[in-house]
Parts: sequence; C-alpha cells; structure tokens
Amino acid sequence: MGGYTLIENASLATRNTLRVAAKASLLAEIRDASKLPELLQFPAIRNRPLLVLGEGSNVLFTGDFDGTVLVMATRGVQVESDDDSARIAVAAGERWDDFVRWTLGQGYAGMENLILIPGTVGAAPIQNIGAYGCEVAEFVESVEAWDIREHRVVTLDHATCAFAYRDSLFKREPGRYIVTAVRFVLPRQRELRTDYAGIHDELQRMGVDKPAPFHVAEAVVHLRTKKLPDPDVIGNAGSFFKNPIVDSTLAESLAREHAGLVSWPAGEGRSKLSAAWLIETAGFKGLREGDAGISNRHALVLVNHGKASGEQLWALAQRVMDGVKASFGVQLEPEPLVIGARLD
Ligand code: FAD
Ligand code: EPU
Repeated sequence: MGGYTLIENASLATRNTLRVAAKASLLAEIRDASKLPELLQFPAIRNRPLLVLGEGSNVLFTGDFDGTVLVMATRGVQVESDDDSARIAVAAGERWDDFVRWTLGQGYAGMENLILIPGTVGAAPIQNIGAYGCEVAEFVESVEAWDIREHRVVTLDHATCAFAYRDSLFKREPGRYIVTAVRFVLPRQRELRTDYAGIHDELQRMGVDKPAPFHVAEAVVHLRTKKLPDPDVIGNAGSFFKNPIVDSTLAESLAREHAGLVSWPAGEGRSKLSAAWLIETAGFKGLREGDAGISNRHALVLVNHGKASGEQLWALAQRVMDGVKASFGVQLEPEPLVIGARLD
C-alpha cells in the first residue's frame, strides 16, 4: 500500500531506546505525510488512543499501548532559500543527528552544540531539545503539523510554539498535533557558544585555539560520549529527569545547607538546580534494582541493564523522585513521556 505500512500486535522492543518489551495493538509507519488524513479515518484508528513515535528515545512504556502507534518515517530536506542565512524545511522522520551533520557539511552554523542527540527532526520541537548551551528553538522558524482537533494542516510560527526549557505548546496540548515538518533558519556566520562547562577544556585538549563550528561539534561529541551511556550498549532515554527550576530564595537556602549544590541562573528570580547532583547526593547514582538502574556514569540517566520491564523502571524512577523530595524538598519531574502511568 502506498505511503504507509500497518502491523497488528506489533512489538515496540526495538522502537524505544530503554529497550522495554512493550507492544502496540496497531503500528502504522507512515512514509508520505499527505496520507495522514486518510489513515486517521480508518475505523481501527479513529476514536482510539494514538501515540506519535519517532525513534522512541524519550519515551517509557510502562505497559502495552492499547491503540495505534504512528511512526513518522517521512524523509526530505529542502533548502527553500539561501543567502546570509538559509531557510530549510525538513521532514519529521529525518534523523536529527544526520541533519545536524549535513548542516555542518554545508557550512551552516548553529547546530554544532546539538550534535549526537538521538531521535527524529519531528520530535525536536516537542521538548525543545537542548544541549551545551543551545536549544533548537533558536533555529525554528515554524512547525508544520496535522491538527487532529481541527482536521487540517497548520503552520505554527515560532511564537505560537511557546518554546521553553524542555517544553513547548506540543507538550502542553498533548495528542493534538502530528508534526510533519520543521522549518529552520540557519546562519552562515554565528558566534560560537563555547562557555558550557567542559567545552573550552576539550578544545584545548584537541589543540584548537581558533575553533570553527566543526571543532565545537567534535568537542561536544567527545564530551557526550564520555558522559552519557550509549543506548546501543545499555538501554536508556538520556536524562530521565528535568533540571528543576525553583525560586532563587529556595536555591540560596539549599546552597547554605549543602555547600556543593550545583545551580544555574534561570532568569526572573529563578534558579535551575542540577537534578544529577540532587540524585547523586541523595545516594541513588549507580543503584540497581533487578535490571532497572541509575547509571553509574551519570545520575540523571535511568538504565535498563537487560530485561527490566517498564513498570520496574518506573518504580525505580518514583523511588528516586521520592528520595530527592525527602532529602531536599524538591520535586523532580520526568523528562520523557511516560506512557500508561498516572502522573500526579
Ligand atoms: P520519541 O521518543 O519517539 O518521542 C518523544 C516525544 O515526542 C513523545 O511525546 C512523542 O509522542 C512526540 N513526538 C515524536 N515525534 C513526533 C511528531 N512527529 N509529531 C508529534 N509528536 C511527536 N534530549 C535533549 O533535549 N538533549 C540531549 O542532550 C539529549 N540527549 C539524549 C541522549 C541519549 C543517549 C538519549 C537516549 C536521549 C537524549 N535526549 C536528549 C532525548 C531525545 O533524544 C530527544 O527528546 C529527542 O527529540 C526524541 O526524539 P525521538 O524521535 O526519539 O522521539
Ligand atoms: N552532575 C552530578 N552527578 C552526575 C552528573 C552530573 O553531580 O552524575 C552535576 C555536575 O556538577 C555537572 C552538572 O551536574 O557539572 C551538569 O551535568 P551535565 O553537564 O551532564 O548536564 P545535565 O544538567 O546533567 C543537561 C541536559 C542534557 C544535556 C546536558 C548538556 C537536562 C535534563 N539534561 O544535563 O540533556 O545533554 O545538559 O547540555 O536538561 C537529555 O535531555 O536527555 C539530555 C541528555
């Protein structure tokens, strides 16, 4: 059939990087976004739960999904205009890291700090992916989506997307939009961001004193490879918790009690606390319960040592949240979408 493939009772085990053995009643892999309206009208899909999935690098299935998992597998990169900056439309199913490397190869600047983040281009605006002092929102001009509520294609401009730290309109209105393409504006020249902890040292180690974007990209690749476990080796979804943003007065009083507290200014009397520091200090780094664990390399990363179920992973995550709350009075929130669990 043209444009999509349907599989009943489909395994999701290789479609989530936490390697949880969940199943979906129906899996629809779509390669032609124009077929979405037709597909969504199928009786087996209409009025049943729907989950859009990219590479599953930011989801935790706590059980099977009783509905349709719609995998965006569309492809295409189109340069719409190219001058001092380029406007580039990219299909949702393109791999993020392939796109980043392509932009660097074409001599566009900006994406170097966002190299090696797993997942698809369509998922990038959902949580406004960010790393090493940069967020994707800085480059997003608009997002094209199928609006499930309004039954039509919409173009959401940058302001409408309401991007914030690991947040956007898409997270605030879950289930409403299927992102089909993202339109980026990338400059040819841009001041490099090298102030995030570790980048300077890494550049020095590489013997580079006048860095170009590809040097920064290489430094970020080194740092990420050192710090984060590889999902091909051990199941994980990157940071499992967001860094909590709290009133600066709370951050200051915590810092008086705990000399090593790690925090960053977050604007308007707010501070961002390092969740990794809170988790490590509360004693959870490296903890293992059966096959569910907290990485011994990075305290923010929940890992599947082998056959942990989604429920077991979620139970450990809740234990960590309760422990951090008891030690510091700070409520952690999961970063990935947790499917099938109640989030109060
Ligand atoms: P999925 O996990 O499949 O989906 C994530 C969310 O987006 C779900 O809510 C899903 O419903 C929704 N979604 C996906 N595609 C669409 C679409 N087309 N339309 C509508 N909704 C959609 N994230 C960072 O921000 N910074 C990092 O540095 C970072 N490092 C990571 C390192 C590792 C090792 C791993 C495993 C993950 C890391 N992540 C990081 C998280 C992850 O890479 C990002 O969240 C990524 O954008 C998820 O892409 P995905 O295609 O796998 O999305
Ligand atoms: N730290 C600890 N213990 C650890 C690890 C880190 O105490 O085990 C402390 C250290 O003081 C360190 C600080 O935490 O300096 C910050 O660590 P890191 O630079 O690794 O950043 P992070 O805040 O833990 C965030 C993002 C990552 C992103 C990195 C780099 C969130 C939730 N996570 O992690 O994104 O790659 O910064 O910019 O904001 C993701 O979202 O999945 C993700 C991996």
